[in-house]
Amino acid sequence: MKALILAGGRGTRLRPLTHTSAKQLFPVANKPVLFYGIEAIRDAGITEIGVVIGDTGAEVRAALGDGTRFGVRITYLPQDAPLGLAHCVLIARDFLGDDDFVMYLGDNFLVGGIGELVGSFRAGDYTAQILLTPVDDPRSYGVAVLGRSGEIVGLEEKPEAPTSDLAIVGVYMFSPAIHEAVRAIAPSARGELEITDAIQWLLDAGHRVHSHLVTGYWKDTGQVQDMLECNRIVLESTTPRIDGTVDDRTEITGPVVIEAGAVVEDCVLRGPLIIGADSKIVRSYIGPFTSIGDSCTLEDAEIEYSIMFGCSTIRGVSRIEASLIGKDVEVTQAPRTPNTHQLVIGDQCTVRLRP
Ligand code: G1P
Repeated sequence: MKALILAGGRGTRLRPLTHTSAKQLFPVANKPVLFYGIEAIRDAGITEIGVVIGDTGAEVRAALGDGTRFGVRITYLPQDAPLGLAHCVLIARDFLGDDDFVMYLGDNFLVGGIGELVGSFRAGDYTAQILLTPVDDPRSYGVAVLGRSGEIVGLEEKPEAPTSDLAIVGVYMFSPAIHEAVRAIAPSARGELEITDAIQWLLDAGHRVHSHLVTGYWKDTGQVQDMLECNRIVLESTTPRIDGTVDDRTEITGPVVIEAGAVVEDCVLRGPLIIGADSKIVRSYIGPFTSIGDSCTLEDAEIEYSIMFGCSTIRGVSRIEASLIGKDVEVTQAPRTPNTHQLVIGDQCTVRLRP
């Protein structure tokens, strides 16, 4: 069995951060989202992985290399334009050959691994297997309608008026019959070859498609709130570890990870939280569910339930909450007079200030 990871896409809902970085490499508890997927695939016993890349391909290649660091072998499959998930299967035809495969969307975050799911697909006699989970607003997802005995009655991509709340999770298992399906379908209204339509094509052609209800935690990390929630979930199971330096004026409660080279002085840290390597945190408060990346500086600052990507500074500002802060960012105090906010902000940013 092989795996196909999709790591192209433009990440429009996470701008401006996606202007300079691939969304699949955004950090959750200081580790890129994509790494969690690769580890889940490897832990399910799959080591041949094709990674579909787009505009951000160079950055993805630099992060993953040939896969040795994960114990897998990675083949890169460039996609000229984001023409849909089924289009990714089309261009991966030679790599996939006649093997069964797992297709994993690189921005999807699934807690609990995929070992059992791969096992049940291998043991069963299905052409495809999909995962479903109830969501509040199914209109942003592929949606499945199930019959009385749990059989799939129909699938629809981002329906305006959903008749079910069961979203299709971005982890699929396919036998080689999917190749005929992706060749047979036409682009959707948004101009993409939808994998949802390809699976519907399989159903219409009489193939057996199995669905599993996901019981654990799943998120598509497409939006700021989703990133913060994934970060919270991962930090919740943090095992405390202090490899950096913490002075005796600092008060720590809850599980805290402080990486090597980080220095913490005269602070209040309320975990779960993580502070990356070589960061310097002075006279600051860091609250629960916060990830501070490598080489950040916090001085006289307060922050909680937030993610700092790395190499950024917050000085003399409190309190920052529910925020995503990219790389090489500076958030500091404005001069006392005049009493104004001073902003130098790029395109497509979001700034929310308290008056
Ligand atoms: C894609 C699929 C959709 C699925 C979702 C899961 O949506 O088209 O069916 O529910 O991933 O993350 P997209 O990320 O293209 O909006």
